[in-house]
Amino acid sequence: MIRIGIDYYPEHWDRSMWEEDAGRMEALGAHVARIGEFAWSRMEPRDGQFDFTWLDDAIQVLSRHNMKIILGTPTNCAPMWLYRDHPETLQWGPDDKPTGTGLRGHRCMTSFTFRKYAARIINELARRYAGRPEIFAWQLDNELESNHCTCPACQTAFRCWLKEKYGTLDALNRAWGSDVWSGEISDWGQIVSPQGTENKPDWYNPAYMLDYERFGAASLTDFVKFQCQLIRSYDPQAVITTNACFPRHMPDFHQEFGPLDVASYDNYPPVRLPEDPETPYSNAFALDFVRGFKGKNFWIMEQLGGPMGCWAPISPAMEPGMLEGYALQAVAHGADLISFFRWRTSYTGAEMFCHGLLDHSNAPNRRLAELEKLCRRLERLPGLGDTTLHSQAAMLYSADQEFSLKNQEQGQGFSYWTQLRRFHHACMNLGVNFDVVEEHAPLDGYKVVIVPTHFITDPRVVERLEGFARRGGSVVVTCRSGVKDKNGNCILGQELPTLFRKLCGCRVTEYDAIGPAVQELTLERGGNYRITGWCDLLEPDEAQVLARYQGRFYSGTPAITKNAFGKDFAYYVGTVGERALYRTLMLTVFREQDIPVVRLPRAVERTVRAGPGGTYQFYFNNSHHGQNLGVDGQKVHLQPFEMKIRTSEGLWV
Ligand code: GLA
Ligand code: ZN
Repeated sequence: MIRIGIDYYPEHWDRSMWEEDAGRMEALGAHVARIGEFAWSRMEPRDGQFDFTWLDDAIQVLSRHNMKIILGTPTNCAPMWLYRDHPETLQWGPDDKPTGTGLRGHRCMTSFTFRKYAARIINELARRYAGRPEIFAWQLDNELESNHCTCPACQTAFRCWLKEKYGTLDALNRAWGSDVWSGEISDWGQIVSPQGTENKPDWYNPAYMLDYERFGAASLTDFVKFQCQLIRSYDPQAVITTNACFPRHMPDFHQEFGPLDVASYDNYPPVRLPEDPETPYSNAFALDFVRGFKGKNFWIMEQLGGPMGCWAPISPAMEPGMLEGYALQAVAHGADLISFFRWRTSYTGAEMFCHGLLDHSNAPNRRLAELEKLCRRLERLPGLGDTTLHSQAAMLYSADQEFSLKNQEQGQGFSYWTQLRRFHHACMNLGVNFDVVEEHAPLDGYKVVIVPTHFITDPRVVERLEGFARRGGSVVVTCRSGVKDKNGNCILGQELPTLFRKLCGCRVTEYDAIGPAVQELTLERGGNYRITGWCDLLEPDEAQVLARYQGRFYSGTPAITKNAFGKDFAYYVGTVGERALYRTLMLTVFREQDIPVVRLPRAVERTVRAGPGGTYQFYFNNSHHGQNLGVDGQKVHLQPFEMKIRTSEGLWV
């Protein structure tokens, strides 16, 4: 069963409305309500004075209407009294000053005092609610970011983390190469969090910045573990998640979700898609990425339920079909629970124009009707919850690459994410299920592994990729792989792609960081493609040349190569191409590996979920225009944002 949920804020509404709200949710067919994640000041109006009567009542009303509860720990927003009485609980910004109160998410996760108060409220909540039949799961905090707080407690925590990692200052100085610019550290106390880096991260020592990012991620994971332990001490069976988003300070998601039972994500796909056909827009990438956090099906904790309008101008209205289509797109990529943000649009506070399912009027509307249609449709697919995606192709991701590349742009506009998205898009467009996995995840069962810019090079990853190709599987490696060691310093004395040279059978004789300039390459078998960002000038050892550059002083120089390695092949892509290039390339790779591909119109996506509950093909039109396609000899038309689902019996549901 795929569950539908509603994000509800009983504390914002007069009690007289709860009963009717819950009744309407039940009539729709909602199974869960997510509540509580911002309600600390209601749960503990004064230091040590708790009030859970309202929460008891809200849970009772919702339960009476057959909804289970996902209960939030309220640590995202500490109450004003806590900040006033204990200012050390406030997060500090990159300017080395405490942030102002009145916003949210600005508590310091490390502060001893904050932890003490957080532990107390979580203990109170867990003692009262953990293990109760009404509780379906727990959500920790809200949209957690990696810890970049610069308060004194966090500075100390950073130093402790480094001491634990390096043991001695000698080891640390060596790892950071801190003799450059007289950066040698002679006392642990000299180490501070990077300040003023917002505009100039690349002026700092990249090795130090990489460790700082790793520390921020580890510090967040510690906060997650701290909360999990508290809840599990009351109910070891508790199902715990936290709602991920892609924030400014990206966590190491795979590490963050380690202690958690299920991954979840706040899914706000765009209401108006960019016109530019080159923009790798599809939200499918985010969904596949999130499925990879735990390598299994996931939940959506917040699903687009109306036009956005918080901290930004109000977005355009959702088009007909969009609410249902986008929710089903998440299901098509492995979501088993979709909770819509939010029941009714708030009439107060900063998000009063961030629209929920209902407008301020509370009157029935088009979005609610569409949600009802979705619920009825899912009821006709009871087996869907017992299925998942099985993929033969995977792409490696790692937080180290993200951390390192974001602070040290390789050529103007060079982006790790653009490459991830373009490969992903090509696979979507060929109708191939696709996993995005952490770089140390097992590769068994895959036939193709894509390795975009393995910049911070881990020899264990390279060895595993060699083993993978040797046993039979194709590997695709791209430019700026093999550049740095694990400390974030350049690998010395070997030609690029250094550790990947054996696998790829080629070397980089020179590179041209062309930035936003656009050039061309020509495939040996014909066809020109636009390229940008980066050009590795390649010299094959034993690899075969698949494409050559056109233009500049290196016309005719190899740009893409293919090396026979073990039972299969290793491709090296020395540049960043337009989307069509990845499609052509992946078509070749998939054919070679006998992975069936489907020809789909642009922006139509196909995925398959299969398992004991049956086999389901999903066809989604992620565009503003109607699209036609052929499926098993039948003509199929998809309206804008329409999802059609074909069952194993050949029925369209
Ligand atoms: C995030 C938050 C929500 C809300 C929405 C509005 O996803 O988790 O609390 O602010 O954004 O878009
Ligand atoms: Zn702090």
